Amino acid sequence: MRTIRVFDTTLRDGEQCPGASMNSAEKLEVARQLARLNVDVIEAGFPISSKGDFESVKAIAREIGGTSRPGPVICGLARTMQADITAAGEALSPARRRRIHTFIATSDVHLQKKLRKTRGQVLDLAVQAVRMARSYTPDVEFSPEDAARSGFEYMARVVAAVLEAGATTVNIPDTVGYATPTEYGAMIRKLFVAVPKLRQAVVSVHCHNDLGLAVANSLAGVENGAGQVECTINGIGERAGNASLEETVMALKTRRNHYRVEVNVRTEELYRASRLVSRLTSFPVQPNKAIVGANAFAHEAGIHQDGMLKEASTYEIMTPQSVGVPESRLVLGKHSGKHMVRRKLEELGLVVPEADLARVYEALMALADKKKHVYDEDVATVVEGATGAVADAWTLEALETMSGSRKTPAATVRLRKGKRVVTAKGRGDGQVDATYKAIDRITKVAPELVDYVLQAVTSGKDAQGEVSVRLRWKGREVPGRGAHTDIIQASARAYLNAVNRLLNPAGGGVRTGKSLIQV
Ligand code: KIV
Ligand code: ZN
Repeated sequence: MRTIRVFDTTLRDGEQCPGASMNSAEKLEVARQLARLNVDVIEAGFPISSKGDFESVKAIAREIGGTSRPGPVICGLARTMQADITAAGEALSPARRRRIHTFIATSDVHLQKKLRKTRGQVLDLAVQAVRMARSYTPDVEFSPEDAARSGFEYMARVVAAVLEAGATTVNIPDTVGYATPTEYGAMIRKLFVAVPKLRQAVVSVHCHNDLGLAVANSLAGVENGAGQVECTINGIGERAGNASLEETVMALKTRRNHYRVEVNVRTEELYRASRLVSRLTSFPVQPNKAIVGANAFAHEAGIHQDGMLKEASTYEIMTPQSVGVPESRLVLGKHSGKHMVRRKLEELGLVVPEADLARVYEALMALADKKKHVYDEDVATVVEGATGAVADAWTLEALETMSGSRKTPAATVRLRKGKRVVTAKGRGDGQVDATYKAIDRITKVAPELVDYVLQAVTSGKDAQGEVSVRLRWKGREVPGRGAHTDIIQASARAYLNAVNRLLNPAGGGVRTGKSLIQV
């Protein structure tokens, strides 16, 4: 059976979408998880786009790609310009296995309206870029951007030329998610016929989700000979996103009898990857999301529950364990000792640095005090909170709120920063608003609340509520996230998490008002 390479672009195409930006430390954390997932290629970023991107590609190239252990190839994106390729080559230099991915559009609309170049000029640029990239690495990928809307003959001519110039992977993007599965599959099949040399290279598929067809189109590409799929965790990406890695991989695995291919991904790491990316980007995962959504393995209907109790395969085509979704069984309680907590963390594959263990234990016990049942999902949430990448400058010491149908909601908040403890009161439209006003008074930050999402991340009446916010202040926009059994507390934590990012120049976020780079 052929093995399909999984090329993850969460840190490039995924991170490029509005609001998903991560700082360097967060990107490195995602890259580590992608390495645990055992993806074949990590597209770590677009080095020319910013100094931060350059540095994080370099850090990932050093830590993940710099070891002698087999692991993912580290890839960097570059337009066909010399400066882009030089930046990518330099950023990737610490990696033993490195790839430069260069691209230029081939559709008439892009040529005429965006690039203002002729077909001949674009073909020359593509060939020169691939040759230049080859001087940095033998592993070069080329993409004719907007391939799905390009004139087929011309696109095939460019593909043939870049293969002659030394491209080893040719990626065929459906940049605007326009193709249907039948069309996209046929295009890949026809390309093999039009460019016989493609058989000596790897054909890659890269599909956007504007019509909700990204995964279906990618799979159609595989059915027609593609050897690599490009995707992102949770399907994040420009506009409606990219093909979701977890859905694409699980379709290939679960329907192996149909696709007749193998993948190297360790699927048991999928859920953890999904949670991590969701936490770091503050993009919640919809409950009915295939594979990693909260309801993906939940059975409510009596008939379904009856079937499940008799034989799980009646209503489940894959097991939750196969994608790393923890079983919702009670295991931890307030009488559990440190030993039990350590075992549980190991069982769930949660790596907690020794220095954070005591904090995680205390947080779990505090939760166990409030909740009757501590589920596996609770443990993951607590660990994420207690070992979060952002070192919080202000921490929540106490929060009291008051509300009623005839009262103006009010909040009293006590925050700590080092030895400093400050208390302030706030009044607002609701308890959350009042809390945020009190926090603003203490931190002297007055951000605009751009987004607020509340969801239950665990089950039961005593579930953990998770709040994701986006704050905008002084031209920067940052995410924040907080979880607690009390939703006002969760709201306060999420807000404080984002405020701390705003106060920290290295706290990530996007500059609002203009994109970092025009392509
Ligand atoms: O969607 C697209 O065309 C891209 C290219 C840079 C490959 O992301
Ligand atoms: Zn893309």
